[in-house]
Amino acid sequence: MVEKFQAVVIGGGPGGYVCAIRLAQLGFKTACIESRGTLGGTCLNIGCIPSKNLLNFSENFHKAKNFSEIGIEVGEVKLNLQKMMQNKDKAVKVLTKGVEFLFKKNKVTYFKGTGKLISGTQINISSSDNSETKIESENIIISTGSEPVSIPGVDFDEKTIVSSTGALSLETVPKKLVVIGGGYIGLEMGSVWSRLGSEVHVIEFLDHITPGMDKEISSEFLKILKKQGLKFHLSTKVEKVIKNKNGVNISTIDKSGKKNTTDCDVVLIAVGRKAYTKNLNLDGLGIDLDDKKRIKVNKKFQTNIKNIYAIGDVIEGPMLAHKAEEEGIAVAELIAGQSGHVNYNIIPGVIYTTPEVAVIGETEEQLIKKNLKYKVGKFPFMANSRAKAIDEPDGFVKILADATSDKVLGVHLIGPHAGELIAEMAIAMEFGASSEDIARTCHAHPTFSEAVKEAALSVDKRQIHS
Ligand code: NAI
Repeated sequence: MVEKFQAVVIGGGPGGYVCAIRLAQLGFKTACIESRGTLGGTCLNIGCIPSKNLLNFSENFHKAKNFSEIGIEVGEVKLNLQKMMQNKDKAVKVLTKGVEFLFKKNKVTYFKGTGKLISGTQINISSSDNSETKIESENIIISTGSEPVSIPGVDFDEKTIVSSTGALSLETVPKKLVVIGGGYIGLEMGSVWSRLGSEVHVIEFLDHITPGMDKEISSEFLKILKKQGLKFHLSTKVEKVIKNKNGVNISTIDKSGKKNTTDCDVVLIAVGRKAYTKNLNLDGLGIDLDDKKRIKVNKKFQTNIKNIYAIGDVIEGPMLAHKAEEEGIAVAELIAGQSGHVNYNIIPGVIYTTPEVAVIGETEEQLIKKNLKYKVGKFPFMANSRAKAIDEPDGFVKILADATSDKVLGVHLIGPHAGELIAEMAIAMEFGASSEDIARTCHAHPTFSEAVKEAALSVDKRQIHS
């Protein structure tokens, strides 16, 4: 007997598991197929969660070493990397088990195995014990995520040539770590290992880090990271990565044509990710892909086979867990005949370094390109009493508002707790707020959020504290 479902989600990451839970809430008989053995996808297992854990612990280690500067005398501060990693693994385990509990609570059937489409309504599941199960579903949602890309001809061994996965589980602190790619992963993991004692070099192809980010924020971020000891080689392309008995040798060429080589213990290649669609049999079913080999979907997340949908990293858009989650909820509601929707103009992006970087909406460069007239409000954390009180004065808030209507078009922050502050901006923008709306909203004192209010005041040059 082939078990029949109304909806089956392939992939149990943040997009897939959220989608499955929402479908079950909406009354569908739902299943989710996941091959990893644990739920939560890249984000919970080998991405957002373990990296935030290490960012936090490494930051504590770094702070503890400087406690005497703030009047706390401690003995010698030593790193127990093994214990740090065990704690990270514990956090991951608790959260992935938590998702399993949510499946039980919501009556989502969980299949551990690899799902392969055999027709528009049939899926074969191969489990690790070599058993095969066939199921049927009226609706199928593909949410199989993404995988790291390497540079041509270089394979990850996850020991000396690592992707983010290996960088989260190094057994010793590398003396020298070279990071290829100055994006989200490179800078977060570079920060972790720098705080734990590595000499970190970041090689970036472009003349700036974090491509696509508001340039002013990106330059400030670069300045701050340099101050923290990370070394940057911009406008530099990696030509070769060769493993040798001492580690890795990297050959580069900069934009003036100057060639260089450098040795390191470990190289982290963080040059982007690509959609993961292996084993799904998309070719066999004739499911259309775009030029970047992502699954092509319409506004309702339907592929060219109408009852097969796709969400998250396998489709177009930023590869962010929260974007996938929003799509998971939207597609479930659309399947239920409701009006699920994702506002792609208001998706925050956060880099969890110290200080954090958080962005939402249009950058100044985008507004210039679109020939839109805008006003800029800025406020430095240096002038924010809370940031000064705790000695975290780096960074600023930048608000871009329409020159005529004053509607907030973009907010860019670098500073303490920026990743939390951006939520206020997301809500404001969802409600179509003007900078004046934010400026006239009472913000508690002393909080970091007052810097946001002051930046809003500064749009009309009436900030009080700078
Ligand atoms: P990325 O796209 O953010 O950055 C890759 C960088 O590598 C770019 O600056 C690019 O110019 C550079 N690059 C490419 N080829 C190069 C080469 N041969 N030599 C030197 N530089 C080169 O990609 P990343 O950091 O790998 O992250 C992948 C995805 O994961 C992104 O979509 C990111 O948004 C997401 N992510 C999000 C996080 C968050 O929300 N905090 C954390 C980690 C990842």
